[in-house]
Amino acid sequence: QRVLPVPAMGLVVLVGVSGSGKSTFAARHFLPTQVVSSDAYRGVVSDDENDQSATGDAFDLVHRIVGKRLRRGLLTVVDATNVQREDRGQLVRLAKEHDVPASAIVLDASDGLVRERTRLRTDRDIEPDALARQQHDLSRGRAQLDKEGFRRVHVLDADEAGTAVVELEP
Ligand code: GTP
Ligand code: MG
Repeated sequence: QRVLPVPAMGLVVLVGVSGSGKSTFAARHFLPTQVVSSDAYRGVVSDDENDQSATGDAFDLVHRIVGKRLRRGLLTVVDATNVQREDRGQLVRLAKEHDVPASAIVLDASDGLVRERTRLRTDRDIEPDALARQQHDLSRGRAQLDKEGFRRVHVLDADEAGTAVVELEP
């Protein structure tokens, strides 16, 4: 069983393609108020969590809220794919601006498992092309991820993601 140290007062950036299990992992380990989800804010601004045209507005809100929470020294988890290096970079900068550590948790389920889960999902309809694009984006940045300014980068396969425990560290 993997034990994952995460900063008690800091930022946790979940990283993983759609269907990798980010929201499931977040719900299992963190309070609902600790989790800031891009999908939830897409819903808030458009009435449709899947409306990609709402992405810009949704991330504006995500960043604002993360900033407010970090200023108060609250553990904050970003539930978004974060497969692009620039997206992770914005979050690392936000943590630095607030003088708190950021850690990444990469949900690294195999492509086959993710495709199968995606096929079975009823809450969302994900285009195979969109999924392939995310997998490509993530694989491109994978090797350099631990040089992006995170205090720790935890990479979990599907089994580990299901059994890992989170341990808060000062
Ligand atoms: P997006 O929000 O689309 O980016 O996906 P996500 O990464 O948040 O994935 P989510 O947590 O919604 O999980 C996708 C599907 O996989 C759901 O149907 C979950 O029930 C299933 N799933 C996620 N994690 C696990 C797990 O640890 N075990 C099993 N058996 N199923 C899981
Ligand atoms: Mg999700």
